[in-house]
Amino acid sequence: MKNNWLNNKTVIITGASSGIGRGIAIKLIKEYNCTVLGIARSKEKMERLSAELGTDSEKFSYCLFDVSSKENWKNYRLYLEKKGIKPDILINNAGILPEFKKAENTSAEEIEGTMNINFYGAVYSVKELLSLILKSSTPAVVNIDSSAALMPLAGTAAYSASKAALKAFTEAIREELRGRCYVGLICPGFTKTDIFRSQNLTEKREEKIIRIISTSCDYAVKRIVKSIAKKRELTVIGTDAQFMKLMGKIMPVKGGKMISAILKKSGFKLFDGLN
Ligand SMILES: NC(=O)c1ccc[n+]([C@@H]2O[C@H](COP(=O)([O-])OP(=O)(O)OC[C@H]3O[C@@H](n4cnc5c(N)ncnc54)[C@H](OP(=O)(O)O)[C@@H]3O)[C@@H](O)[C@H]2O)c1
Repeated sequence: MKNNWLNNKTVIITGASSGIGRGIAIKLIKEYNCTVLGIARSKEKMERLSAELGTDSEKFSYCLFDVSSKENWKNYRLYLEKKGIKPDILINNAGILPEFKKAENTSAEEIEGTMNINFYGAVYSVKELLSLILKSSTPAVVNIDSSAALMPLAGTAAYSASKAALKAFTEAIREELRGRCYVGLICPGFTKTDIFRSQNLTEKREEKIIRIISTSCDYAVKRIVKSIAKKRELTVIGTDAQFMKLMGKIMPVKGGKMISAILKKSGFKLFDGLN
């Protein structure tokens, strides 16, 4: 086992049932001997993960609930206290990517739903669990954000807003907790997971291009865990995400215009709603 502060920690991971969260859970258990408490809604996917872990499954347990409910987090805290579980690390990873479409064609309820999962889910977990995490000798909160927080894209107003809010929240609490708790912010770009399930990817060509520009899930997970192991405060993953970071910094207005023009010109059905 690598010699690292992460070794043998108790880690709460939201969205552990698939994609990036699932990958982080496996890596922390197998390479750092962590005990992982997963949170998500699908029992079937959690059971599949447990089975894949084999003998390591004793290091994995899960609770099924919707992270967007404040009440669920209150109950989860009571559950941890009742069980005498002392978490060291909280990783807020659960998130959704709604269908690409203009804000004017998106209902207020859809926007609220996205904010509730991607932003408030993380806010409620921090509100409920921070005092427990701070009892650890190595407390940590890591939020899995997105390159959309660095440069919003047309067609993703709700998603970009939720991720921009998460970035601001994370950066503010990082300063408030400096010296008391490690706070990490991770901004991946397109990553090969099931998150695109809500998109209208009817064309093979679109699917292929998304696949080409996307980072592999294994690589993203490797970068995320390495970043946490080194207690990095900000990690941007993928060439597309680095490009968005640069654009957001040097061309915050013209950059958005340029990217929108490229998306429209691409002729992708995916961006039909933007014309
Ligand atoms: N993939 C990308 O291109 C990409 C890029 C940038 C950022 N990210 C971010 O990375 C994170 C992980 O995404 P992913 O790509 O791994 O997607 P994914 O494969 O779809 O996984 C999302 C996870 O979140 C859980 N989840 C969703 N809504 C939930 C809710 N209301 N309550 C509890 N759990 C919920 C899902 O579990 P259940 O369905 O079982 O509830 C699942 O485990 C997200 O925050 C996403 O925004 C992804």
